[in-house]
Amino acid sequence: MNTNGRLRQTQIYLEGLAGKKPLVPIDPDRLERHAERVMSPEAFAYIAGGAGMESTMAANRRAFERWRIVPRMLNDVSKRDQSIELFGMRLPSPLLLAPIGVLEMAHPDADLAVGKAAAAEHIPMIFSNQASKPMEAVSAVMGDSPRWFQLYWSESNDLVRSFVKRAEACGCSAIVVTLDTTLLGWRGRDLDMGSLPFLRGKGIAQYTSDPVFRAQLAQPLDAPAAKRSVSLASIGVLIDLLRAYPGDPLANLRSGEPLRAVARFVATYSRPSLTWDDLAFLRQNTKLPILLKGILHPDDARKALDHRIDGVIVSNHGGRQVDGAIGALDALPGVVAAVAGKIPVVFDSGIRGGADIFKALALGARAVSIGRPYAYGLAIAGAAGVQDVIRNIRADFDLTMGLAGCTRIVDITADRLVGEPHPPPHSP
Ligand code: FNR
Repeated sequence: MNTNGRLRQTQIYLEGLAGKKPLVPIDPDRLERHAERVMSPEAFAYIAGGAGMESTMAANRRAFERWRIVPRMLNDVSKRDQSIELFGMRLPSPLLLAPIGVLEMAHPDADLAVGKAAAAEHIPMIFSNQASKPMEAVSAVMGDSPRWFQLYWSESNDLVRSFVKRAEACGCSAIVVTLDTTLLGWRGRDLDMGSLPFLRGKGIAQYTSDPVFRAQLAQPLDAPAAKRSVSLASIGVLIDLLRAYPGDPLANLRSGEPLRAVARFVATYSRPSLTWDDLAFLRQNTKLPILLKGILHPDDARKALDHRIDGVIVSNHGGRQVDGAIGALDALPGVVAAVAGKIPVVFDSGIRGGADIFKALALGARAVSIGRPYAYGLAIAGAAGVQDVIRNIRADFDLTMGLAGCTRIVDITADRLVGEPHPPPHSP
C-alpha cells in the first residue's frame, strides 16, 4: 500500500512502454461505460441509476463544479502525507468504501473481493446491510484491516440488535445508520425493467445468515403472500432465487424457505416510522461509535449532537433516493458549521476524482467515501479492479494536494477554494 501518486503515475507510464494498459479506465466516465459493457442491463441499471429524473445525481456533480481550487506555489511539496485520524484510528488516506448492497450484480465474488481489495489498501470498508455475502465471511478475508457496519433499521429490534452484535464480533469499529432509505426511492431504470434484486434473493445475505431472522422465518407473516400466476419468467425468478439462496437448492425448493425469506425480508427490512427517539435503543446496545448517514440539513446535524451521535455522513445516497434533492456537497458547509468540530463529518455522493476529495475536505469533511466507482472496478476485474480504483483515486488526490501547495491534510482549508457564482435562474 502506497499513497504516493507519483509512483503510481510512473508505474502506469512504464507499463505503457511495455504495451500494458491500465486494468480499469482512469477516467470516471470511461470506467462507467466499460463497466456497463461487462454487466447485465439489470445489474448496470441497479448500480448506475438514481431516483426519478436523476436530477440529484446531476446536482451532486454540479456542486463540485461550482468550487475551484486555487493552487499555491513554492511550498516544497516533495513529501506529502494524506493520512488522517478517525475515531482513534490512523488511516493512510481520507478515503473509505461506501456501503453498497447487492454487489453480486457486479461480480460473483461481490463483497469478498471488495474486502480483499480494501484490506490490501488498508481502506475501511463499510459493510452493507444489503450485502451479498455475510459479514463474517468478508471479515475472514480482511485480516485486521478496518471495517464498519451499515445498518438499515428493521421493523424488528431483535434483528437490529443481532446485526449489531454480529458486527461487533466481526471487528467492526463503527455502526453507520442509514436514515435516507426508510422507503425505497422511485428508481426509473429498475422500474422500467421491473427488476428489484432482493426479490430474487440477491442482497439479503446478512438476513439469511442471521439466527434471529432465521428463527423469525418459522413465524407466519401478518400479510399472506399474494398469489402469483406461474409463467416462464416466474420460473426463471424461482431458479435465480434458489441459486442465490444458501444451502441445497433442491431441499430449499421442497421447504419453500427462500420464498418465505424474501417475503419476510420485504415485510420487515426497513422501518418508515423510525424517529430520533429510536436511536436510544442502538446506544443501549453498542459501545461502538454511531454515525448517521444521509444528513443534509444543519438542524438534523444539531439533533444528532443532541442525541450523542458520534459522527454524521453527509450524503444523498448517490442521488438514489430523493429526486430533486440538494447536491450533497452543497449541504456540506451547513452541516460542518452546525456540528462545529464536535464530531467528524464524513462525506459521500459524487466523489469521482482527487479534486473532489480535496474540495470536500476543504469544505470541512474529515474523510470521504466512494460508491459507484469501486463497484465498476469490481465488475471489470474483481478484487484487482477495486484495488486499482482505490489506487488511482488516491494517487490523483496525492498529486492534486501537492500541486495545490499542500503537504498535509490540515493544509487543505476553505481558503484554498473559490466558489463560482450560481448562474441567474433564467439566464439563456
Ligand atoms: C448504494 N448505497 C447504499 N448505502 C447504504 O447505506 N446502504 C446500502 O446498502 C447501499 N447500497 C447501494 C447500492 C448501490 C448500487 C449504490 C450505487 C449505492 C449508497 C452509497 O453508500 C453511497 O451513499 C453512494 O454510492 C455515494 O454516491 P456515489 O459515490 O455512488 O456517487
